[in-house]
Amino acid sequence: MNATAALRIAFAVALASLPFAAGGSADAAAEGRRLYRGERPTAAPARMQGVDVRFACAQCHGRNGRGGEESGVEVPPLRWRDLQRPQAGSPGFGDEAAIVRAVTEGIGRDGRALHFLMPRYALDDGEAQALLAYLRVLDTAGDPPPGVEADALRIGSVLPLSGALSETGRSIEAAMRRRVRLINEAGGIYGRRIELVVIDGGSHAAGLAEALRQARGDERLLALVGSYLPGVAPEAVEAASDMPVLHSLGVPLAESSTRDSWMLPSVGEQARQLAVHLEAHCVQGGATHLLYDGNPALREALLASGFRPAQLAVDGDAALHARDAGSARWIALLDAGRVQALRESLRPACLGSVAVMSGLPQRAAAPLPREFVALPMPAEVRPGALWPLLGDGAVQALAEALARTGRQFDREDLRLASESLHGFSIAPGISLNYDRRRRHALDVGFAMAGGPQDGQ
Ligand code: HEC
Repeated sequence: MNATAALRIAFAVALASLPFAAGGSADAAAEGRRLYRGERPTAAPARMQGVDVRFACAQCHGRNGRGGEESGVEVPPLRWRDLQRPQAGSPGFGDEAAIVRAVTEGIGRDGRALHFLMPRYALDDGEAQALLAYLRVLDTAGDPPPGVEADALRIGSVLPLSGALSETGRSIEAAMRRRVRLINEAGGIYGRRIELVVIDGGSHAAGLAEALRQARGDERLLALVGSYLPGVAPEAVEAASDMPVLHSLGVPLAESSTRDSWMLPSVGEQARQLAVHLEAHCVQGGATHLLYDGNPALREALLASGFRPAQLAVDGDAALHARDAGSARWIALLDAGRVQALRESLRPACLGSVAVMSGLPQRAAAPLPREFVALPMPAEVRPGALWPLLGDGAVQALAEALARTGRQFDREDLRLASESLHGFSIAPGISLNYDRRRRHALDVGFAMAGGPQDGQ
């Protein structure tokens, strides 16, 4: 018997000994979960200070019942063990009827009236039984997050498997599946194997965003990981669901303002770091000028990144070129042809560009003596191997975050663990560096074109 099988049997035994599973009221608990989360309203509204209200328990006590604070009032945790044990000098709830009285009549542990912020619920008998059944398993192994079963974790990934990008999509899928297989062969994560569900979003940004939005509402999945979303803005995939969207691939214009994470830094972030790099490496004084193609979304992204060039100008302003030629640092967020034209016409002393817009300069194109190219990843990565490497890294990051949460976790725990991946190596010389504020994993790299330090 291998380790996975042994773990699985151990888990089955543990499950059978839960009071709840023995009672056989799994349906009641599922119904209670819906009531608790407000996914299904109670038949009658609750009352708060004489007013009808429709609040779900989770809004105040937390989705995992760990309690918190509401309008300055402490909200107690609701896990079964919390309800049983004494709190602040008051005895635990003696029986189920006492808990129901707290919910319906606002009568607390030792008979005192609960604060008015705890609504008085008009539960019918079925609703009360369902809530009790759910409170018994709340935040235990008997209440796993969506997509998590006794022996499996189901993860989705949206990839372009049809259309122009299908080859890239398939190479990412192959890399992800290989990594999933390795993890599963090594026993999975706390005895659960990873199941990867790949969803084809086609090769257009709109289709990929739509596929992602739909997948986000699919409660059979725990999270979406390593989706390849070229041209998709982070905000375009927001949804009401709390499903984490982790380690997406592609280079958005701006950093994500949501808690979704991306492997690569945005164009705005690359330009910001490029400006810092030019200041450090170009001895010429003066201001940094930035030329772009006039795309308002790009302009917005640049300003959002906190980047303040002396000039943020649309390419083609000849007067500007003439006035500032030779006197400053230039950043060109333009296609390869226009960067080349700039090289020839302006011959600036110091020029920066970003590889995702204009590629790496060809040697034959006679780069300038001081010319830097921002890469969306550390310079060690071979560009041809980038996407499969990132797909593989996304699965590694998921597995590491899950290993850090422990066997008992919810989606919020998974998000927090993902955000804590800092200095986590996915390949030699390549680390993920998330933190609580930073929504991208990899550092910007720089290549120096035309000089002996090529690839520095
Ligand atoms: C609007 C916020 C809010 C909502 C919604 C809410 N509660 Fe409460 N609940 C509270 C607060 C605040 C207290 C603490 C009151 C006090 O200590 O006087 C409390 C206390 C309780 C207690 C007593 C816990 C203890 O340890 O003494 C129980 C049981 C309880 N709530 C169950 C529920 C259930 C079940 C639901 C949903 C059907 C629910 N609550 C919805 C705010 C809320």
